[in-house]
Amino acid sequence: MASLGVNIDHVATLRQARYRADPFSVLAEPDPTEAARLAEEAGAAVVTAHLREDQRHIQREDILRIRRIVRRLNLEMAFLPEMIAFACELRPDEVCLVPERREEVTTEGGLNLLGQEERFRPGIARLRAAGILVTAFIDPVEAQVRAARAAGADCVELHTGGYANAIRVEDQEKEIAKQTAAADLAHSLGLEVHAGHGLTYRNVRRYVARVPHLHTLNIGHAIVCRALWVGWQKAIREMVGLAAGE
Ligand code: PXP
Repeated sequence: MASLGVNIDHVATLRQARYRADPFSVLAEPDPTEAARLAEEAGAAVVTAHLREDQRHIQREDILRIRRIVRRLNLEMAFLPEMIAFACELRPDEVCLVPERREEVTTEGGLNLLGQEERFRPGIARLRAAGILVTAFIDPVEAQVRAARAAGADCVELHTGGYANAIRVEDQEKEIAKQTAAADLAHSLGLEVHAGHGLTYRNVRRYVARVPHLHTLNIGHAIVCRALWVGWQKAIREMVGLAAGE
């Protein structure tokens, strides 16, 4: 059973496909801020957006606008000094630290925190001192969970791509076992457990039924796709129900 964080990046992707030159023109649509407002109205507990360095979808201005209207914002960002400074000023409710490579289509793997705990510690402490819940997006590997704890994170977001991409039932079971072990360990270390990446209307029910201690699932692409057929708020309401284990 988990709450739903709705990732609105791909609403911005659609806008940028047509209005890259002037995303805040009066003509530009769809508006990610309106998507965020409607997502909360439909039951999303959190609005999640990734401000990438190249601003390929969400723009800095989007984040400023969304911050003003949502109840709970989770800002995904790279661990970079300028992003940490931006977040400390903006004060989103949550920051999720993700690896970022320019050439990737989407976030491909979790952060590698092994041996990096001391490098991450001061930046994470700064974010936490600004009142922000800090999450590390990691692969479901026990050493990464321990490293996230050692670096001072409040929370881990388990990368569910391995589970989402497994086609054979035995491969899915192996991934569920990894997710379960990572979630159990995180919980025992006092970390909140989030999960996301590649979760869909087809695979989320089993995930939620099997993996313990889930607090929030962050889901984007599947919701945007389903919204094309049934509408944004219905797609979100359906996923809120699935995340809750209904
Ligand atoms: N969580 C993190 C850290 C992500 O980077 C992403 C993708 O941007 C998601 C969750 C959502 O993934 P998806 O769009 O596949 O649902």
